[in-house]
Amino acid sequence: MEKSLIHQAQEILEDNEQIIDLEDRNGHTQKIRVRPPDREYYEGSWLWDTGFNELSGSGEIFSNFLKFSQWKNGFVPHILFYKKEQERYFPGSKYWQTENSENAPLAYTSGITQPPVLGFCAFRIYKRLKEKSPDKAQDFLKETYPRILNFHRYLFQNRDQEGSGLVSIYHPWEAGLDNSPRWEECLSRISVTQEQLAGTRELRKDVKGLVAKLVGEGMREEGVRKLASEMRPTNEDYARYLYLMRFLADKNYDDRKIYAEVPFNIKDVLFNSVLYASNEALYLMAHEMRDEKSKAEIKGYLSKQRAVFGKLYDGETGLYYDLDNRTSKLIKRKTIASFAPLFAGMATPEQAKEMAKIARGKEFKGDSQLFLIPSTARTDPSFYPKAYWRGPVWMPTNWLVARGFERMGLSKEAEEIKNSLLQLVEKSGFNEYYDSDTNKGLGRDDFSWTASLIIDLAKDPHFWQKLWRVG
Ligand code: GLC
Repeated sequence: MEKSLIHQAQEILEDNEQIIDLEDRNGHTQKIRVRPPDREYYEGSWLWDTGFNELSGSGEIFSNFLKFSQWKNGFVPHILFYKKEQERYFPGSKYWQTENSENAPLAYTSGITQPPVLGFCAFRIYKRLKEKSPDKAQDFLKETYPRILNFHRYLFQNRDQEGSGLVSIYHPWEAGLDNSPRWEECLSRISVTQEQLAGTRELRKDVKGLVAKLVGEGMREEGVRKLASEMRPTNEDYARYLYLMRFLADKNYDDRKIYAEVPFNIKDVLFNSVLYASNEALYLMAHEMRDEKSKAEIKGYLSKQRAVFGKLYDGETGLYYDLDNRTSKLIKRKTIASFAPLFAGMATPEQAKEMAKIARGKEFKGDSQLFLIPSTARTDPSFYPKAYWRGPVWMPTNWLVARGFERMGLSKEAEEIKNSLLQLVEKSGFNEYYDSDTNKGLGRDDFSWTASLIIDLAKDPHFWQKLWRVG
């Protein structure tokens, strides 16, 4: 079974690879190799998708993403757009107004970031390259290590202005889990006017236009229905997302101003967990580069993070949560993000065992035969098995949890989730996400991160465990 699944996954990754003409703000173009999340809808490269998609790649696409998207202050945006104008994807480059910032690169990008998975993904790529061609591996390291280090420096200097050891996100999309119910309360503090709502509806009409266009072009009715708005965030959500997007652009992406004033300032538990794991990998990269000075700096970040992580744990419910930096309260909504500290090795052995029980219980696994973790707990009032990050099963987050249980020595849980993911994809296809009640594939088909992480799970059982042992 696994062999043909790997073969199919490799084909999807190859099909999704493209050489594009990357446009820049000077009107120049340059041919570069990229791998967008899928072949039709997404018109750019996404940050955490790129990390996950390139785990078994040659490193070229990963390096390109960093090289062209990174801002002068180290910030890495969540999207590198290929062109000035987007035909399908909304909100495209013109809405971000990155030219407002003196730090923006020549390429068209968004102005927010995404979970910093680049460190541990780069280390995985480096190790594989080293087995075959040490020279290539060294070149890859030289190209990517300083950029990732600068990204982490940006995060600690700008997104943790109180020096707590936990970095903040400014927008729900920076979490990667766009419409998670965790943002509900904070977003409700942003009032949207009827005018803003009408404006949002108008802007999103383009998206509906897209559905008509795709049907016109003969795309399967089924596929188009999957784009239906019930599975996507509502206009009310969207009005607030756009408000925050404009807020950042109006402040010229100046972190000094934004950090103090932005209504959405959250210490996201998943974001901080993957940052910790990426820092561990960055430390190993610094070691390979014989960069002793930065090793000490990275060690400093690691110990600061370790010292504070316990603040995110709630003993009563046995899970980790985000901290709302405006109210100084934990956001106690149960979602898959609560399990991310396992991947960072942050949970104590007792906590991890308790978390395994919760994962298996009615709140997450439920009655399903497969052991998969829905994006939002089945018991959460907003749970809906088809609604994006409010219930469906997603590959990257389940991968993080499976690898997390493995790291914590809970290999039974790790194996079960891993095997369930393989069965899910075998049965339903390589979708963007899956209905957590029926396991039917939803969103876009032939999705890059689903394919890439299947290869990692099926072919690479021991790398990650070994990595943490070294770290
Ligand atoms: C959606 C997801 C985000 C992902 C992007 C590209 O916006 O919410 O996590 O990175 O699609 O796949």
